[in-house]
Amino acid sequence: MDHFLYRNGILHAEDVAIPDIAAQVGTPFYVYSAATLTRHYHLFTEALSPLPHLVCFAIKSLSNVAVLKLLGDLGAGMDVVSGGEYRRARAAGVPGDRIVFSGVGKTREEMRLALTGGIRQFNVESEPELRALSEVAVSLGVTAPITIRVNPDVDARTHEKIATGKKENKFGIPIARASEVYAEAARLPGIEVIGIDVHIGSQLTELEPFEQAYLKVADLTRRLRAEGHDIRRLDLGGGLGIPYTRSNEAPPLPTDYGALIKRTVSDLGCEVEIEPGRLISGNAGLLVAGVIYVKNGEGRDFLILDAAMNDLVRPSMYGAHHDIVPVLEPPAASPTQPYDVVGPVCETGDTFAKAREIALLAEGDLVAFRSAGAYGAVMASEYNTRPLVPEVLVRGDQFAVIRERPSFDEILNRDTIPAWL
Ligand code: LLP
Repeated sequence: MDHFLYRNGILHAEDVAIPDIAAQVGTPFYVYSAATLTRHYHLFTEALSPLPHLVCFAIKSLSNVAVLKLLGDLGAGMDVVSGGEYRRARAAGVPGDRIVFSGVGKTREEMRLALTGGIRQFNVESEPELRALSEVAVSLGVTAPITIRVNPDVDARTHEKIATGKKENKFGIPIARASEVYAEAARLPGIEVIGIDVHIGSQLTELEPFEQAYLKVADLTRRLRAEGHDIRRLDLGGGLGIPYTRSNEAPPLPTDYGALIKRTVSDLGCEVEIEPGRLISGNAGLLVAGVIYVKNGEGRDFLILDAAMNDLVRPSMYGAHHDIVPVLEPPAASPTQPYDVVGPVCETGDTFAKAREIALLAEGDLVAFRSAGAYGAVMASEYNTRPLVPEVLVRGDQFAVIRERPSFDEILNRDTIPAWL
């Protein structure tokens, strides 16, 4: 469920009419609903209660500091994968002891930043990283709390570019070598082993792969405890999928996911962390665009929008589907027609949808891409020197621009011409 509904024939974000935002901000823009973000966060905390737990929002899915503050103020932790994301979490007022640091390529500089600024744990992904972290911690005279991310060799049955839990993927250490790596971690100075981490992929639409992975983690917990490690925290990653179409998809609900976690690991008495991104942010955001032209092509009509692949790359990159709806609700039983929905960028990959049935549209009309809150604005670029798309947050009847569209002067001033040229 989200808070983007038609009222009197006009698409609203909570109590704000989308055309009112468009009039002030211009198109394209992203708009997020505070009520939806809040609701989705609470679905997870309720699903995990009464287990001791922390829901760490995967910042990579939607990293605007205003959104992080909203979730942080509700008590959320944050999952960061770079020094930049760590800085965002801290700028949003999230304390270090609610931030977990994931990622296969943490640099020593990023380790120093987190160790001095405060960190709940590092999710370590390799032996070289473990040794580097030990050195950095010792040099600072501190101890780094860690879990080790294990690769359980489980097929997440999702898009190949976002599956992370198979042995051929770059993530984690092979679960079969866990004893050896945990033994090394226990010997290293400046390192405190506190738990195990796993994350098998994103946009999972079945619970079974999670179950396989979590059962393996439960077994490993028992084995590592028997080998003398004080395993007291399990980070079970993110990845629960969302419905991208209104009709036929019904991915498992957070309550089912919570029940699965309880069934597989609650007897171990560990504190549980999860790292959901998409389920919290995905259906909490729209990308709103305007129609520049309707062009009659050879056997097809192109709907040319002022949003492009640089603003929302998921369709070009993963062949992803986003529902596209008119902002003004078409009257019941009004005709539709198939459109190829495209942007102005100069490559054929700049196509959002082919032969998509949409109500008849004309120049100047507004459309909204649904389910665009996750991996939308964060993956935007300025390709074709198109200014980075702005972001708006709505709460009730209020809205605010939470990231401005840069001016062309700002964009051009970032480039410098060397004196010798
Ligand atoms: N934890 C880790 C370690 C991750 O790598 C990810 C996502 C998450 C949590 C959050 O997963 P989520 O709950 O959002 O599924 N750009 C792609 C998705 C990439 C996901 C990368 N890792 C897309 O647009 O579909």
